[in-house]
Formats: sequence, C-alpha cells, structure tokens
Amino acid sequence: MNKSRLGPEALLFPTPAVLVGTVVDGRANFMTAAWCGIASSKPPAISVAIRGERHTLKGILAQAEFSINVPSAAMVAQVDFCGIYSGRKVDKSNLFELFEGELKHAPLVASCPVNLECRLRHTLDLGAHILVVGEVIQTHVSDTCLTDGKPDSAKIDPLVFSPGTGTYQRLGEIVGQAFSIGKKRPGGAQ
Ligand SMILES: Cc1cc2nc3c(=O)[nH]c(=O)nc-3n(C[C@H](O)[C@H](O)[C@H](O)COP(=O)(O)O)c2cc1C
Repeated sequence: MNKSRLGPEALLFPTPAVLVGTVVDGRANFMTAAWCGIASSKPPAISVAIRGERHTLKGILAQAEFSINVPSAAMVAQVDFCGIYSGRKVDKSNLFELFEGELKHAPLVASCPVNLECRLRHTLDLGAHILVVGEVIQTHVSDTCLTDGKPDSAKIDPLVFSPGTGTYQRLGEIVGQAFSIGKKRPGGAQ
C-alpha cells in the first residue's frame, strides 16, 4: 500500500457546487460555493464555509437570510461566472430569473431544480473561512425533478465539483441502495 502525504488539506470528494443567494445593499447577489454541506436534520440545517471578504457574507450577516440554489449540470458556465466575479464589482442580480419564497432576503433561482430558503442561525470563525449555518425554512423542487413525489438526483442532474482537478462533473452511475447493500457483513481487507 503506497500513499503520498499531501500535508493538511480539507480534501473531500465530491463536493456540490451551489449558488448562495443573498441581498447585499438592496441587490440580489449569487456566489458559487463548493464547501457546502448538510449540518442537521431537525431542524434541517445547511452549512457553508465562506471567506470573510466575500460580498455574499456581508449580505448574509446584514439580512440573516440566504438561499442555497442547487444548479443542474447544464448551468455550469453561469455557476463558474458567479465563482469568478464578485458582486462588489459585477452586478450579478440580473443573471437569473428569480421567484418569491417565504423569506424576503433569500433570492431563489428559477432555473435551479432545488432551492433552500435559509435563516441564519450560527456563524463560526474558523480562520480563512466563516462557517455559516442556516436553518432551512422552506424547500422548493422543480416538479419535473420528482419521481413519486421524491427528489430524484437523476432528474436534478446536480453539478458536482472535484477539488484537486478543479473540474465540474456530473453524478455517476448508481452502485447500491443505502441501508440495504451493506446489511450482510462484507469480506475483510483486500
Ligand atoms: C467552483 C468554485 C467553488 C467555490 N467555493 C467557494 C466556497 O465554498 N467558499 C467561498 O468563500 N468561496 C468560494 N468560491 C469563490 C467565490 O465564489 C468567489 O470568490 C465569488 O466571486 C464571490 O462572490 P461575491 O463576492 O459576490 O460573494 C468558489 C468559486 C468556485 C469557482
């Protein structure tokens, strides 16, 4: 077994690529984030690690509200745009068609198949990044992405980001059913 030591890195595969929406100085703004994850189920909560200098962080701290918009793979160029240009210099408010939810300062992107409206609950200063934790107040899923009323990742076709290579990718094939395929004790180390 040969392994290379890369030093301490926050390396996890894969990460989602989402659009974090907020309102900054009265204008909707969207930032690409790959360091985003599920933080809790009850109440449902999402965490996103945001650098202190981001325009987005200014809006989230001021409004205490934000959205997490899950783009489809087809939106890759728009997502990358939001990850290259800051709302401090470029107006990103008119990039997308928006729709209204329950929160006033959590702009929702219509073309993203999944949208989460979040209310800010916690911030944790970890150094380069501030960990922002939001409670999910409402969840929106495009009807075309449901199968038997449940969100279907094959239809959502979410954008995946691969650290290291820095590439955007799609989800791959299904390899098993969770809480099922592992019921029988598998064989030992190979
Ligand atoms: C694929 C990708 C993932 C990114 N993930 C994050 C992230 O998780 N946290 C972060 O602070 N910045 C992240 N960025 C950088 C911001 O999206 C970028 O600095 C953006 O311009 C910030 O916009 P804003 O200043 O309008 O908030 C990412 C950029 C890309 C392209």
